[in-house]
Amino acid sequence: MTILVTGGLGYIGSHTVVELLNEGFDVVIVDDLSNSEKFILNNIEEVAGRKPVFYPFDLKRRDLLKQLLDAHQIDGCINFAAFKAVGESQEKPVDYYENNLFSLINLLQEFKERNISNFIFSSSCTVYGQADEMPIDENTPLKTPESSYGKTKQMGEEILMDFAKAHHKKISLLRYFNPIGAHPSAKLGELPIGIPNNLIPYVTQTAAGIREKLSVWGDDYPTPDGTAIRDYIYVVDLAKAHVAALKKLMSETSDTVIDIYNLGTGKGSSVLEVVNAFEAANNVKVPYQICDRRAGDITVAYANADKAERELGWKADTSLEEALRTTWNWQKYLESRN
Ligand code: NAD
Ligand code: WQD
Repeated sequence: MTILVTGGLGYIGSHTVVELLNEGFDVVIVDDLSNSEKFILNNIEEVAGRKPVFYPFDLKRRDLLKQLLDAHQIDGCINFAAFKAVGESQEKPVDYYENNLFSLINLLQEFKERNISNFIFSSSCTVYGQADEMPIDENTPLKTPESSYGKTKQMGEEILMDFAKAHHKKISLLRYFNPIGAHPSAKLGELPIGIPNNLIPYVTQTAAGIREKLSVWGDDYPTPDGTAIRDYIYVVDLAKAHVAALKKLMSETSDTVIDIYNLGTGKGSSVLEVVNAFEAANNVKVPYQICDRRAGDITVAYANADKAERELGWKADTSLEEALRTTWNWQKYLESRN
């Protein structure tokens, strides 16, 4: 079985490629290196012991996609390729719509004409906005996301549901909560570009002395310690969920399937709990200051991931501290490369 993994050199994609290779799948990666680096390909091979086929091109190039699909028999696709920076998407909305939606549409145009099904889409808990009740299950009402990035995810979901119904395809929409951590080998992880906006990369760079202090965005939220709460899921657990979701799609006898799963731990952690866990896990200090709330932030989001456990036999079981230990090891690996 050969799986096309778009964005397969990226953060979540690279971990998922390793899990696919470990499970005996062959993998073809398309990645234009807009947010990844070529050395990740070699590291995937080191970790998994097998090399995926790699095509360095932009998925907006439908002609190149056609050539790839003519050359390989593809049995399923996991589509990670997208721009993902929430703040940047507010400054460059059209770039986000173009990249995230044209890439998706090119894939679907090709797949509808060829006999290719089993499509997995990287969605996000951002489609729920600030939900009225916790935990968030798949029946929680969706809210139009504030950011253009978030809107590309919601639109992507709708495009895929229409695609599945009209063309009798099997699709799975995976709504990730907050992915964190790195591979236990310390050979794969999130590549920091510029000043991080997300919490864990900022905490890590502060502990490493690259940033002076973490700004904690708000301590006046209606939560036990006043800081906002999220569901931080370990990236290897998340990668394994993709393999489980793919296997489930492949085993379905119906030709039309629309699966939707929340992928989280089911447990919320506050910003200060994350800081404390990072310090305890790695025996380092993370200096911080309390600042005003960040515009657009929600108070609390954590998943009810029971559906994924029930239907995929999957559960995120890595602790926050363990995940944060892998983050620190990855940071040390990156420093050793410089
Ligand atoms: P990432 O940026 O590390 O990986 C995305 C990869 O896609 C990169 O390697 C990039 O070079 C590639 N890419 C982007 N546009 C492309 C194009 N047009 N053609 C070919 N390659 C292209 O991001 P990630 O954190 O691994 O996220 C993967 C997916 O999961 C994205 O769709 C993202 O929106 C989604 N997601 C991420 C998070 C998160 O917090 N990391 C949360 C929810 C959903
Ligand atoms: C987590 C918490 C911050 C940085 C974003 C996207 C979402 C999804 C995941 C893709 C918040 C606080 C952060 C800092 C802080 N991505 N924080 N100081 O905002 O939950 O979600 O990434 O789909 O769509 O919106 O993640 O890591 O940015 O923030 O206090 O320097 O940490 O305010 O409460 P977020 P995050």
